[in-house]
Amino acid sequence: MDTPFAFATADPSPFYDSQQLGPIGVFDSGYGGLTVLKEIVKHLPDYQFIYLGDNARAPYGNRSFETVYHYTLSCVEWFFQQGCSLVILACNTASAKALRTIQQQDLPKIAPNKRVLGVIRPTTEVIGRFTHTNKVGIMGTSGTVMSNSYPIEIAKFYPEIAVFQEACPMWVPLIENNAFDNPGADYFIEQNLQHLLQQDPAIDTILLACTHYPLLMNKLMQLTSKQPHLKIISQGEIVASSLVDYLNRHPEINQLCKQESGIRFFTTDDTSDFNQKAAIFWGQPLVSEHAVL
Ligand code: DGL
Repeated sequence: MDTPFAFATADPSPFYDSQQLGPIGVFDSGYGGLTVLKEIVKHLPDYQFIYLGDNARAPYGNRSFETVYHYTLSCVEWFFQQGCSLVILACNTASAKALRTIQQQDLPKIAPNKRVLGVIRPTTEVIGRFTHTNKVGIMGTSGTVMSNSYPIEIAKFYPEIAVFQEACPMWVPLIENNAFDNPGADYFIEQNLQHLLQQDPAIDTILLACTHYPLLMNKLMQLTSKQPHLKIISQGEIVASSLVDYLNRHPEINQLCKQESGIRFFTTDDTSDFNQKAAIFWGQPLVSEHAVL
């Protein structure tokens, strides 16, 4: 085991301590956020984290704004009960469909001193560094694509960039069911990739705008091996660097985050199923606990 973090213990008590210090919460509808958490802990190895996958209600990708908002809010409230002052929505769909309402309407009422951050803003802030042609492709869930969050946010930072989107509704179910490495899956992956690239041959940067998709990185690299000008970007490292920067700029939040290595993994669904599938995203075995929302 090459991680400095202790895995989950049998102790069901939250991390909350008397000085009001708490872990940083990292959330996803299921397993995808683990690809982001993995990068975050490399950057912040001395902090304490708590991960929640809402597997019982995943996937979120095809659900309505209203539903994603209510599901996400209930998970954010759960993190607050665990003593978190900072929660990262490591899920593009939740960031696209729920974050703004939670930040603007809910937090001022329920927890004015706590913060909830997403993954779209940090990604759009830096996307211009990757493209030379100013043509960027976004691959995401239907929810993320239909929200238009990426084109809108990219236009704020890089108005010169043209954004092309492709919804990939089959990718998360294939990944969550560990069925992404077979010829049946290849059909959907190749089809979505082609649809995106057909929109403009000058696209030189593809953003994997779903935290599940890094598991397809090898396959996508193979499929694009004859187009070496294409860069395929995943978000983990970008979000992790942005979080470090955020904590440096916000000492009032940083001082509420417990600096004591440790991670606990929670799922709203069956823990043995989670342990088995999450290990693929996490890269090594983990032990999860059941979260009751
Ligand atoms: N991992 C989530 C995202 O980044 C999507 C998964 C889902 O559809 O639930 O969008």
